[in-house]
Amino acid sequence: GQFLQGRDVLTWADYATGEIEQLLESARRLKEQQQQGATQQTLAGRSLGMIFENASTRTRVSFEVGMTQLGGHALFLNSTDLQIGRGEPVDDTAKVLSRYVDGIMIRANDHEKVKRLAEKSEVPVINALTDWYHPCQALADMLTVQEHLDQLNGRKLVYVGDGNNVAHSVMIIAAKLGMDITLSTPEGYEGEADVWAEARAIAEQTGSKVAHVVDPREALQDADIVYTDVWVSMGVEKEADKRNKAFRRYQVNEELMSLAKKEAIFMHCLPAHRGEEVSAEVIDGPQSVVFDQAENRLHVQKAILQAVMR
Ligand code: CP
Ligand code: NVA
Repeated sequence: GQFLQGRDVLTWADYATGEIEQLLESARRLKEQQQQGATQQTLAGRSLGMIFENASTRTRVSFEVGMTQLGGHALFLNSTDLQIGRGEPVDDTAKVLSRYVDGIMIRANDHEKVKRLAEKSEVPVINALTDWYHPCQALADMLTVQEHLDQLNGRKLVYVGDGNNVAHSVMIIAAKLGMDITLSTPEGYEGEADVWAEARAIAEQTGSKVAHVVDPREALQDADIVYTDVWVSMGVEKEADKRNKAFRRYQVNEELMSLAKKEAIFMHCLPAHRGEEVSAEVIDGPQSVVFDQAENRLHVQKAILQAVMR
């Protein structure tokens, strides 16, 4: 088979550093091709089923448009309109969809469900966000860092806020690519211990450093990249009041940004809440690269789709 053909994309922990680097290289080429109007229809006649249990703007549109640009077709499948929403087993859904489509993309609340779908499916399954991981976002983020800071290896990324799905995936991919990563979260919001253990094991192999620092002011010293995400992810809306209180000192505003390197970039996967996890001055200011991140979702999705489905 070809490079990565048939592989699932559930978390970058399953991938070798070299494979991730090749995907980034492929995304860069696809971006150039598109800018020159020279995109090749490498997925002509192929179909991608896109199951969504939750809302999405970037992920849905970038996957759908990406499939169109590569000559294929994408089906938007709202889970409440599928029989899975009325109790049809995940296993049967996986087996049936495998008889129709060439790949499945899924956004679901429960990472275990996505793992099960991938196990039972005969076509590649791509994780489009679960409670644990957001791998496609993290790959687009690394492409964005390369574009702005060139070298990834040895850079210091500081993630400030909630140790959530996005934090997990950024931590894993950064460790894979030899970046130093510090998560700055309140106690109790560090993220999953299993993911920390995994990130630390990867960092040991690649020579990167993974750390947790409660005080964001201390964490931000020498940061090349300052990253944040929402305090209230999809599925934990009931905890909004408690979380908004717990994270108050973690808003990325001009004062916090001034503690990072002068040339540091600001990142956010979006959607953002100005005045909560980030101030308007920072996200709409000169250090912000958030719309490049959003654009790069498209180029990265195409690289992933082409690699696993071709
Ligand atoms: N960043 C991201 O995944 O955005 P959507 O929820 O809009 O897809
Ligand atoms: N952490 C956010 C990411 C949205 C793209 C959430 O899970 O809602």
